[in-house]
Parts: sequence; structure tokens; C-alpha cells
Amino acid sequence: MTTDFRTPALDALAKEIIPEEHFTFSAATARDRFFNDTRMLDVKQWVHNAFRTNPTSMIGHMIDHLALTGTEDLLDLGCGNGFILEDLRPHLADGSITGLDIAPAVLQAARQRLHGTATPCTWIEGSADDLSMLGDDTFDRVMANYMIHYVPDLDRCFTGVRRVMRPGGIFQLTTDRTDSMLEMYDAHFAALNAMGAPRDLFKASPKGRLSLTNGADLLGKHFERVHTVTWQDQLRFTSTEPFMRFYEVGHNHCCASSEEDERLTASFFAELRERVQAQVTAAIEARGYFAVTKYTGSFLCQ
Ligand SMILES: C[S@@+](CC[C@H](N)C(=O)[O-])C[C@H]1O[C@@H](n2cnc3c(N)ncnc32)[C@H](O)[C@@H]1O
Repeated sequence: MTTDFRTPALDALAKEIIPEEHFTFSAATARDRFFNDTRMLDVKQWVHNAFRTNPTSMIGHMIDHLALTGTEDLLDLGCGNGFILEDLRPHLADGSITGLDIAPAVLQAARQRLHGTATPCTWIEGSADDLSMLGDDTFDRVMANYMIHYVPDLDRCFTGVRRVMRPGGIFQLTTDRTDSMLEMYDAHFAALNAMGAPRDLFKASPKGRLSLTNGADLLGKHFERVHTVTWQDQLRFTSTEPFMRFYEVGHNHCCASSEEDERLTASFFAELRERVQAQVTAAIEARGYFAVTKYTGSFLCQ
């Protein structure tokens, strides 16, 4: 199903609130702070699935474009807790899966999730920009889903992917447009503004490093063909609580709580949550639901 959620109001909102700058997380932050347990991933995966209005799930879209025959050797960079691999695995009944992630806690969750299944699985703790432990021409498919903005050296990562991928293979990199989930950022920035919060908190997202908007150029340096596929979805919340968990735990308050900072006290976050929650509650009362519009997609590289 193709759903176009684009409206003039959303376009205007995008111009107003998309931050010009983005920031870069350190590998240590990803490993030791965000993904030292599966909480953040669990909340996001639950919400993206439970509150979607697109009948095809995010994983359904990914699988459609991987064109699997069942015998491929697949490498998943930043595989997380194996949420995607679990659904993908039956499509590789006679193939193999290698999951690589920088964070041991989520990698262990992936290992447990796929334990005992028929597809041989290998789990590697490491960073996606160092694939030196993997041989040339080893994989038919390589995936990097919603993780590339964390990788310190993108050129080194793509050079490695090119090397480990067999001729005719596909590298699928899935990411968001920078204006994805605008409504959440709008509520967040409105709350920060009302609080007179420090300006550096308005950078908001690391995703501008490589998004659906700018990624094709970067990937084009490493791959002969880069084809972009997109899809849309709208999460609709009729109660504030699941949205607030998505915002607070799943997105670290739109990244405001990503790094320790003495200005960011418990009372700061209490007020921020209260202000965001008030806007979401008002939207639900006015319209019946609070919408979060997603613009996402994949680069298919060969
Ligand atoms: C938002 S999660 C996405 C997980 C999974 N791909 C999915 O879509 O459900 C990002 C993942 O990238 C991992 N990660 C972060 N930096 C990494 C790096 N430099 N190399 C490999 N994995 C990394 C994190 O530990 C985390 O599991």
C-alpha cells in the first residue's frame, strides 16, 4: 500500500523545525549507554509495530526488497536484539546469518532470540567500520538498518561492505528522512522553547549524518548502482502513555538525555515530559489521536 501522508502543514512544519546541525555519537556512547540493555530497542520496536497504520510492517518492506531465494549468506551490521533477523530467518532456511553489533548486551539478546533455529548463525562483537575479520566475497546480502548514523568512519564501513560482498550481492541500508517523525520533534522543541532550554539541545538528531535525503551521494562513491526505495507510515496514539515511553525511553527525549550534562537535572526532564505530554493529550482530545508520521526507506546498493 502506498500512503501519502505529506500535507502542506507537515511541509511547513519541516521547514520550521528540522535542525540544521546534527551531532555525532561516540562508539562508547552507543555501546555503554544506549544499547547496554535492550530497553530502548524493545520500546521502539513495540511502538513501531503496535501503532502503525501501514498494513505492511517495516520488516515486510525490508524483506520485499532483499529478493531472497533462501540460500543467501547474509550479514547484518548493527543487528541489535535480532528483532528483524527473527522475521527474516525463515527466508534464509538454507542460507546463513552473521550478526555484528558493537554492544554485547543486545548481541546476546539476538543470539538467544535465534538460538536453536535451522539457519546457522554467527555473532560478532565489533564496529561496522572494521570488517577485517571477514573474508572477501563472503556475503550475498549485507544489511545496515537504522544504525549507520552511529558508525564513526562511514567511508571505511562502505569499503568493507564492498569487499565482503559477492559480485551481484545487495547492500541494503535502511534509514529515515530527516523530516521523519516531525510531530514528535515539534512537541519536543516547543517544550524546550517554553522552558528556555540551552540552545545546543536543539540539534536534536544524529540522523542527518546519513539520511534518505543525502545518503545516495555518499554511497555512490562506493557502489556502482544505488537505488532508493521509500515507504511511509503514520503511528497513531489514542493514549499518551505509549507515546511517552517511545519519546522518553525509545528516543532519550529526542536525544536530549543522550549525554550526561549537569544542566540536565531530574527536574528539567520532569518539566520537559510534562510539557510534551500536555501537547500530546491536547492533540488526542482534539482529534482522537496523536499522529507521528514516518518517512523512511532503503538504499539498495550493488
Ligand atoms: C537503532 S539500533 C538498530 C538495530 C537493528 N538494526 C534494528 O533495526 O532493529 C542501532 C544498533 O546499532 C548498533 N551500533 C551502534 N554503533 C555501532 C557500530 N559502530 N558498529 C556496529 N553496530 C553499532 C547498536 O548497538 C544498536 O544495536
